[in-house]
Amino acid sequence: MDLEQKLAELKKRDRQAEEGGGVERRERQHKEGKMAARERIEFLLDEGTFEELDKMVTHRCQDFGMAEQKFVGDGFITGYGRIEGRMVFVFAQDFTVFGGSLSEANAAKIVKIMDMAMRVGAPVIGLNDSGGARIQEGVMSLAGYADIFLRNTLASGVIPQISAIMGPCAGGAVYSPAITDFTLMVDKTSYMFVTGPDVIKTVTHEEVTKEQLGGATTHNETSGVAHFMAHDDAECLSMVRELFSFLPSNNLDDPPRRACSDPADRADTEMDTLVPAESNRPYDIKDVIHRVADDGYFFEVHEHYAKNIVVGFARLNGRSVGIVANQPAFLAGVLDINASVKGARFVRFCDAFNIPLITFEDVPGFLPGTQQEYGGIIRHGAKLLFAFAEATVPKITVITRKAYGGAYCVMASKHIRTDVNYAWPTAEIAVMGPEGAVNIVYKRELDKVAKSEPEKLEEARRMKVDEFRDRFANPYIAAERGYVDGVIQPRETRKRLIDALEMLQGKRDKNPPKKHGNIPL
Ligand code: HXC
Repeated sequence: MDLEQKLAELKKRDRQAEEGGGVERRERQHKEGKMAARERIEFLLDEGTFEELDKMVTHRCQDFGMAEQKFVGDGFITGYGRIEGRMVFVFAQDFTVFGGSLSEANAAKIVKIMDMAMRVGAPVIGLNDSGGARIQEGVMSLAGYADIFLRNTLASGVIPQISAIMGPCAGGAVYSPAITDFTLMVDKTSYMFVTGPDVIKTVTHEEVTKEQLGGATTHNETSGVAHFMAHDDAECLSMVRELFSFLPSNNLDDPPRRACSDPADRADTEMDTLVPAESNRPYDIKDVIHRVADDGYFFEVHEHYAKNIVVGFARLNGRSVGIVANQPAFLAGVLDINASVKGARFVRFCDAFNIPLITFEDVPGFLPGTQQEYGGIIRHGAKLLFAFAEATVPKITVITRKAYGGAYCVMASKHIRTDVNYAWPTAEIAVMGPEGAVNIVYKRELDKVAKSEPEKLEEARRMKVDEFRDRFANPYIAAERGYVDGVIQPRETRKRLIDALEMLQGKRDKNPPKKHGNIPL
């Protein structure tokens, strides 16, 4: 071969790799409203920054006539590039090649970039669109999955891992995204399940569609497996970029700081009247978050799941913070199993990646009832407590209204190493609400009234409730003890949070040496 022929050979192989499974299959992909794998990578990364690795890899399978069916690159595109100038590693499964299925050869491509990402401390973003294990390769494909799962696990807490589900993701393949930090799904074109509708019908005779079983709505609203739902591929990839903007590249880095033109001391007088005078009237905690955050911007995580707790990212004077907030506008902000797990997972992510935690607290307690107790609210509620208690990042809490019972302790109270705890004048900090407390503490007294002067019972109860509320439903007993560091005017919350964050910038705290804790899973 002369030089010209050698260059022509390279061009031919390059072209073959870029063609994937061919025009026809790509058009089918487009017709379904999906981008092709390469288009996704181009859209995700800063223009012209993608460097592909292992472009020439082919599978090694000799069975089922596979030796005659080879596609250059073997249907996975892997490499590295930049998002807003920062390095990321990325893989995209190309559904046009054997349905994006995982082979021994293309699993090794993913393993290679994951190992490299760990060595250089850069995140991994996976764009999933695959029929799962390549059936023709049998156990070699399963081994490839297991190799990836191991790396997902070892990388957890070291580099951020993000999974975008942009097509099928079924069987054991779901466990790679499940181990990563965030899962995004595209509505109507993606689905995830361990066993599909056909198997379910055979085994349990239950009939269910793919969409009902594992569509984006199901996993965003019902199971909580997915953290974000996008309407199409473009929105999904834009969300990945946005999410990444809040995160550091690895656990030894700080999150990137943005220039901020929103004044750090911006006071918001309307916040003084945000919390309704009546203790049981709802309000939207997201109003508080938006008013406090830089430019009113809040990037919510798990928006559609367990809405009684709100979690997500914002910036305060240009710094990334993780927000955890009870939501009085949904189930009165009560903590239940799903909310506890949602909150705990988010807290642990922020702690692993040096993102300070800001907690807004308005919680009447844990949800009572057999459903919750049988479901293990004790174990699940303990996850949130464990997560807050073990977190060593800067932690700041603002009690806006209710902080009752065990939930007071759990929601980043002073006692579990929160650095700065503020309360608004509307805060009520007690073992339980006045109505419940009076029924227990004054039971005998009220029973007597009920017997001797039943007509006076309601009046007697009301007086006791008022007395209890005056005595306990305020922030001052906690402030006298130093359990809250200050009772602040709501209008000055942004400034106080930014000042506290600034003070905590050099915080160094660690947990006792151990292999790992035993969070109640
Ligand atoms: C090899 C596969 C494949 C697979 C799809 N293809 N899945 N090839 N291994 N797993 C090929 C098809 O033969 C077809 O090739 C092309 O990809 C497109 O597939 P279609 O069926 O035409 O597409 P569609 O109608 O959109 O259906 C997509 C699908 C279906 C729902 C994903 O292909 C499917 O059910 N595939 C099998 C899914 C599955 O059971 N996988 C194993 C899961 S268990 P041609 O040449 O015709 O274009 C698993 C275990 C992991 O993954 C364990 C980890 C521990």
